[in-house]
Amino acid sequence: MIKLSNGRQIPLDMHKVKIIQRLPFPTVGQRLKAIEEAGFNTFLLRTRDIFLDMLTDSGTNAQSDHQLAASMESDDAYAGSESFYKLADAVRDVFGMEYTLPVHQGRAAEHIIAKALVKPGHIVPMNQHFTTTKAHFVLQGATVEEICTDEAFKTDSSCLFKGNLDLDKLENLIATHGADKIPFIRMESTANLLGGQPFSMANLKAVKAIADKHNIPIIIDTSLIGDNAYMIKKREAGYENTSIADIVKEIVGMADLVYMSARKSCTSRGGLIATGKKELYKIMAPLIPVYEGFLTYGGISTREIESMAVGLREMTDEYTAGCAADLIEYFVGRLLEKGVPMVTPAGGVGAHVDASRFIPNVAHEQYPAGALAAAIFICSGVRGMERGTISMDRDVDGKELISEIELVRLAVPRRVFTMSHIEYAVDRIAWLYEHRDMIGGLTFDYEPEMLRFFIGRLKPIAAGGASENWPQELAQAFIKDFSDQA
Ligand code: F0G
Repeated sequence: MIKLSNGRQIPLDMHKVKIIQRLPFPTVGQRLKAIEEAGFNTFLLRTRDIFLDMLTDSGTNAQSDHQLAASMESDDAYAGSESFYKLADAVRDVFGMEYTLPVHQGRAAEHIIAKALVKPGHIVPMNQHFTTTKAHFVLQGATVEEICTDEAFKTDSSCLFKGNLDLDKLENLIATHGADKIPFIRMESTANLLGGQPFSMANLKAVKAIADKHNIPIIIDTSLIGDNAYMIKKREAGYENTSIADIVKEIVGMADLVYMSARKSCTSRGGLIATGKKELYKIMAPLIPVYEGFLTYGGISTREIESMAVGLREMTDEYTAGCAADLIEYFVGRLLEKGVPMVTPAGGVGAHVDASRFIPNVAHEQYPAGALAAAIFICSGVRGMERGTISMDRDVDGKELISEIELVRLAVPRRVFTMSHIEYAVDRIAWLYEHRDMIGGLTFDYEPEMLRFFIGRLKPIAAGGASENWPQELAQAFIKDFSDQA
């Protein structure tokens, strides 16, 4: 962030654009048709119909010149690739861990960890679940216990570490089930589904003390560890002058094992599992050739392995670690100025709009976050993602599991969007907020059993005073106000 002479803080890009991708700017009519064809699920839209793709930061970050250069030098040997040894060196330097297993993406790491360590009847406590993590652990017959603090579900908050794990709930869980039922405690560095909220170092230390007392290992999902470290540096007393690299090392130093989706922060493909414990490595390594690929490429091209090695080091660069978080903070701040209800404080991954406060008359069962994501797309061509009840699957009896929070996530991939993009998105979302009474609900047309948010199809329904034709009516109102630009 840099302070302008008028006092306003703005994120300052410490990079320049070298390669570009031309963007389409579909009309509101085209956007309406596209979202209808996509079954009102933004996952099912095509790039040609999207202006700003804020679905995710996964695989969509811009790479650096050094990453691209490194990928040209890759060694594509099936076994023994030199590219792998560069990655293992980077893991040793950045995480201080001896053993590295590359995998094709984050959920592949979750699959291997689940197969190796999670058994039927196990309880896995975590600061918050992630969709794919939960799916893999549940498939193994385990139960996932999200034990974040109660504050985490308050979207309008000034709590700086809403990704903290609730220590009392952890002690209770261990007392109730017994430590032998708990294969490990999982901490997610910036809790994605809470709005990219970080945990504090103090909280992690306290979790570690409890874990040590009961001899329970700690696994950290380090997909966004650079962002979590950056927020610790900015928010936690005592870390102002510690380097991001040292904060990352201190976090990882408390884990028995870490894994990550490298797609989210340090490159465009891949993931890894790392540990300092030989016995853990020995349990997992044989699973890699079965499910991923040989131990030195893990199911991705060695070009990506090279890029991951460089990206991992860049992730701890003082600027790179915070560049997404700063732009997100600015984005959230501008939307708050317009009165739009947002998750505060701003976190990682993206700006999170609170659909429950945006359209309070649309009930959880009418999927307000899904409806709002569709409405934002119609009004702007900005593609966000539902992170609410649709993203929860039903329970074993088919009962709807209501999400505590209904969010639309507008992801901010690293070094991709400019200030003009952010200002455009703010303007159109602010317009939508003025017309929020026109947004209705959604219901499923086709509903898969697991991870339904990915490929489920929905249709509009009357809700909150809006008719079942709300998408068409919203498009009409938009055309009236933006006749020259619709
Ligand atoms: N862990 C976290 C914290 C994640 O955010 C993700 C993915 C994964 C694991 C799974 O990794 O996609 O490489 O298989 N998050 C993406 C998102 C999908 O859009 O938030 P993956």
